[in-house]
Amino acid sequence: MPAIVLVGAQWGDEGKGKATDLLGSSLDYVVKFNGGNNAGHTIVVGEGELAQKYALHLLPSGILTPTCTPVIGNGVVIDLAVLFEEIDGLEARGVDTSKLVVSASAHVITPYNRVLDKINERFLGSRRIGTTGRGIGPTYADKMSRTGIRIQDLFDENILRQKVEAALSFKNQVLAKIYNRRAVEVDEVVGELLSYVERLRPMVCDTSLLLKEALDRGETVLLEAGQATLLDVDFGTYPFVTSSNATAGGACTGSGIPPTRIDSVIAVLKAYSTRVGEGPFPTELLDEMGEFLRKTGAEYGTTTGRPRRCGWVDTVVGRYATRINGVTDVVVTKLDILTGLDTVPVCVAYDVDGVRHDEMPIGQSDVHHARPIYEELPGWWEDISGCRTFTQLPANAQRYVLRLEELIGARVSAIGVGPQRDAIIERHDMRPARSSTTPAPA
Ligand code: GDP
Ligand code: IMO
Ligand code: MG
Repeated sequence: MPAIVLVGAQWGDEGKGKATDLLGSSLDYVVKFNGGNNAGHTIVVGEGELAQKYALHLLPSGILTPTCTPVIGNGVVIDLAVLFEEIDGLEARGVDTSKLVVSASAHVITPYNRVLDKINERFLGSRRIGTTGRGIGPTYADKMSRTGIRIQDLFDENILRQKVEAALSFKNQVLAKIYNRRAVEVDEVVGELLSYVERLRPMVCDTSLLLKEALDRGETVLLEAGQATLLDVDFGTYPFVTSSNATAGGACTGSGIPPTRIDSVIAVLKAYSTRVGEGPFPTELLDEMGEFLRKTGAEYGTTTGRPRRCGWVDTVVGRYATRINGVTDVVVTKLDILTGLDTVPVCVAYDVDGVRHDEMPIGQSDVHHARPIYEELPGWWEDISGCRTFTQLPANAQRYVLRLEELIGARVSAIGVGPQRDAIIERHDMRPARSSTTPAPA
């Protein structure tokens, strides 16, 4: 032990990559357990002219920490072209990626699923989800329909061919007869997938066993979510969600680490809210204040470059994230972006057609109708980007954090005050105590 889970508390892009990177040197393994290259994590290493910016999509953020073994778990969907592009890009910049391991049971994003994601969205028209178009939804749909292609299938050409044929026998009908598109050739798909096999082979293993043995040795494993609580397929604002479990429960099914071995759950919460794509967003600001947050916070998607929708922090969402994930520590990010406001509104509850809701409404229509009830907190004007202790923060910035802590019901253990690696205030140590505990019963 120990195993730590790290999740997003809102709609993604909270700064999970930076939070993982913060713990980097105290971790032995960082496991990506859900999603795929729909994620985008920006990590800034170094300062000033020497600053290096990394945008990761498919690789776990731990790849930037040399002592850490990055793991792509069984719950991830893998676009192999993107995997090797990202590896090559990092290697060209001097990052050693040789420790990367990939689960034999992870599913592969096939070329036809990339196509279907985009076509499905076009056909949904005004009811579209606003997906990243990376083939995520159709690949998880195949996994659940039991017509998916797994990494292990690539090592047996006959099996691979049979599975691609089975998937395409249905999908080609849909492509041709419903969408009026050209059918996809089995050979084309098999050929593309096989072209990666030799590079892939040495990386592939039973990652669940690898992680179990690491935990038995007392090593530290961080399970890092892509996306976030409100994008979770079960607990998010369905259907405006991604197609995987981005909450703490998904960490177990997406890695093979059982719940009894998880020690803590860190949620990353941006000091305001953002969302990319469609779907309800009660605190969204469609005025110049939203534009201020977008400009100041550089809120443009790491993956698609789309402008992110922006709004005030929502503690109904925060409380919900605490509850669903069993949060033990919160990392509040981007507090620096709120500097220079007379007052900072915090959403404490919703008004849904005249009824106050302190908790997330159970009906999706109510979330669409929710009007935020705000508490106005006094702002601060001092530059906080150089603060490294909580007491160095202006009194009103401290008050803001303490009020968030109270409203979301979990302790705030770290506060981000800038994009750089060291621009963080640590209040409580989230690093696990290294121990060689007795192995869990076999
Ligand atoms: P992720 O998907 O959750 O990893 O988050 P993204 O990387 O998509 O978006 C977070 C953005 O905020 C990145 O550009 C980070 O460099 C940046 N960032 C993270 N923490 C802070 C912070 O405390 N202050 C500021 N100003 N930027 C931050
Ligand atoms: P990180 O890990 C923000 C959103 C998309 C869309 C919905 C479904 O960087 O926080 P998908 O392509 O997954 O089927 O799209 O989910 N979405 C994200 N939004 N951050 C992400 O990842 C996201 N990954 C998916 O915009 O609304
Ligand atoms: Mg992101």
